[in-house]
Amino acid sequence: MQFKKFVPLVASAALAMAALTSCGGGGNTAAPAGSSSSSSAPKPITMGFAQVGAESGWRTANTKSIQESAATAGIELKFSDAQQKQENQIKAIRSYVQQKVDVIAFSPVVETGWDTVLLEAKRANIPVILTDRSVDSKDTSLYKTFLGSDFILEGKKAGEWLVKESEGESTVNVVELQGTTGAAPAIDRKEGFADAIKAAPQIKVIASQTGDFTRSGGKQVMEAFLKSNPDIDVVYAHNDDMGLGAIEAIEAAGKKPGTDIKIITVDAVKDGMTALADGKINFIAECNPILGPQLMDLAKKVVAGDPVPPRVVTPDEAFDQQQAAAVLPQRKY
Ligand code: AHR
Repeated sequence: MQFKKFVPLVASAALAMAALTSCGGGGNTAAPAGSSSSSSAPKPITMGFAQVGAESGWRTANTKSIQESAATAGIELKFSDAQQKQENQIKAIRSYVQQKVDVIAFSPVVETGWDTVLLEAKRANIPVILTDRSVDSKDTSLYKTFLGSDFILEGKKAGEWLVKESEGESTVNVVELQGTTGAAPAIDRKEGFADAIKAAPQIKVIASQTGDFTRSGGKQVMEAFLKSNPDIDVVYAHNDDMGLGAIEAIEAAGKKPGTDIKIITVDAVKDGMTALADGKINFIAECNPILGPQLMDLAKKVVAGDPVPPRVVTPDEAFDQQQAAAVLPQRKY
């Protein structure tokens, strides 16, 4: 398939911070960092953070942002890496409850199965902040706020770019590399993309499988896709790492990524943006990993019992090859 000539796409940014209604604070008795108690020095806020793992370049940048921002904000951070396993995250949260931290923050590896442990935190009067990924729970009183990107919008941007680029084509065969099964970004990015391509019946998703958000997973699944599907026009990968793994598989099969097979990804971390500027990826919808500063601000507020918005949306952009080449030198992650 030959796509029509490059059309610059104005990167859209979901710039609004959603501040719909406010919800209550944690009711925690620890003094907020910087405030003074009656006789001694102020007690620093302690945060327990249960990270998903180290599965991607995005996650590495996110962890760095959280650790650096905690140090800057004077927040004592207890950090755990769940190695992409829900049971490890649940154990970490339970241990933070036992340690009586002032606030718990976590990025849930999958959407469901959190109510019991979140109820334990609530009963211990420890406020919880969801960061990056949300949970699928009817009881929104189990957490104070959710800070992170709009994953549906990211998938939509990816699909809209493809619809525009493939105008006039008779058939466009897409293979999809999904993120971790059951994870919010995998569910939402699939949905957003599917929604956008509905308008273009020539675009067909001919295969869709999880690569678990890892480079090795993306490579392995792409190798299998290439063996069973001779006519792949486009790869839609739910993150840069899987797209980079797909590039390796495509090159090993003697094809040119970005030309013979177009590649669309999500994240816009350094390696992804470099591949985009080099012409091996065609479009990236950004997912900003720098959540640390906002997370620390929200943590101070919930510990102080101040109101916070129930949802804080991280602004994201989108990049084609020319835009990536222009911003790459200044890119910090
Ligand atoms: O939850 C954010 C996603 O998780 C990122 O897009 C992906 O790279 C990461 O593993």
